[in-house]
Amino acid sequence: MEDYVKLEYKGEVYRLPVVTGSEGEKSVDISKLRQVTGFITLDPGYANTGSCSSAITFMDGEKGILRYRGIPVEQLAEKATFKETAYLLINGRLPNQEELTNYSILLNDHSLVHEDMRSFYQKFPRASHPMGILSSMVNALRSFYPALADIEEESTIMVTRLLAKVRTMAAMSYKISRGHRVVYPRSDLAYCANFLNMMFDSPVRPYELNEDVTNALRVFWILHADHEQNCSTSAVRIVGSARTNLYAAISAGIAALWGPLHGGANQAVIEMLSDIQRDGGSIEHVVKRAKDKNDPFRLMGFGHRVYKTYDPRAKIMKKMCDTLLPKLTIRDPLLDIAKKLEETARKDNYFIEHNLYPNVDFYSGIVLRAIGIPTNMFTVMFAIGRLPGWIAQWKESMYDPNWKLSRPRQIYTGPTETEFIPIHQR
Ligand code: ACO
Repeated sequence: MEDYVKLEYKGEVYRLPVVTGSEGEKSVDISKLRQVTGFITLDPGYANTGSCSSAITFMDGEKGILRYRGIPVEQLAEKATFKETAYLLINGRLPNQEELTNYSILLNDHSLVHEDMRSFYQKFPRASHPMGILSSMVNALRSFYPALADIEEESTIMVTRLLAKVRTMAAMSYKISRGHRVVYPRSDLAYCANFLNMMFDSPVRPYELNEDVTNALRVFWILHADHEQNCSTSAVRIVGSARTNLYAAISAGIAALWGPLHGGANQAVIEMLSDIQRDGGSIEHVVKRAKDKNDPFRLMGFGHRVYKTYDPRAKIMKKMCDTLLPKLTIRDPLLDIAKKLEETARKDNYFIEHNLYPNVDFYSGIVLRAIGIPTNMFTVMFAIGRLPGWIAQWKESMYDPNWKLSRPRQIYTGPTETEFIPIHQR
């Protein structure tokens, strides 16, 4: 039976088809709306707009559910490697042993970065934010690695290069920013361990891999691997819809993720907690500011466009803080402040009424600090984790039979037709 909603305007009735997803969520298909009725929809921030159909990630913001290709993120965080998760997102299913081994070999083979790229890094001013550098360098990959003639091969190689090289490029930017010797990837190390070694190994202090630290990074990256049509993923899809190359589309995603309302929140949370520590723990003052409509300040790491309950990733991150820090014999005062801040905010009517709970960024910075990652690299860590999701979403959009160039409309509110006034008459 045809399912539709009726739209009535001045006696005219229009039927708009209802499209139902595999988890029962409903949408109204308005793709013919303008053609049939002359109307467009108006939805600032796209809070009610589905931009595509996607089989990659399911989230239920009311129940706090997140699944990649149907698998709950909790199970992946417990049992999967980051590489398996990346394969799952990009290829639609978990790899078997042979596929995973081949994937590892491929990633290893592509993990080196063109030596000429190093000089680019060295020319950035010292105070540059690593997200700006990463976004520029990912875009520059197209110049260093021109497209192959075979489209299928090019697509596979481009994806592999990104997964393998962005990790190397991130560690490289950290080393160069410190004026230290770059550490090359090692074929004997797994994905997470390899990154940590490139970040922290030094000729004067060889890096000792620690299983708890490697595991924490694995969980952090898996939790960040995809989150359906968020700001940066939408940026990747929109830029990709112009059929630009994948590197440019991912570069746009990195730029979007940099923002403090999106991925940059993990850095902003630590800065906020450090401010509280410096001011002598004035949690009530911070909560009061966050509620003040005349103050642009927001409680960082709180609230989410989709989650109106506890972010499932934040639950895992909080638990990770409680297990990892004692194992590493770290006592981080910012964790105590974060917990007190959460407790105070969650008892407050404003936060209760607005359904504001901790999001993934609230506790993730404390985990990253424990691993030894400097604060200005936090969002880069998020970007490395999100890469498989961006790639999977881009790939899905490339093969979407309903693909269209992204081009929203607007309601124009400027002046109506106005005569040009010559300069001497103005
Ligand atoms: N502190 C105080 N008030 C908040 C917060 C917050 N963190 N978040 C939302 N609100 C309030 C808004 O002021 C608004 O109040 P009003 O309705 O009384 O005017 C209401 O809650 C709804 O806020 P919106 O901005 O409409 O919600 P939206 O869905 O657009 O915002 C966002 C989501 C941007 C994440 C917001 O919660 C926020 O700014 N949070 C802080 C930044 C942050 O942690 N970002 C990371 C998000 S997770 C991620 O991207 C990986």
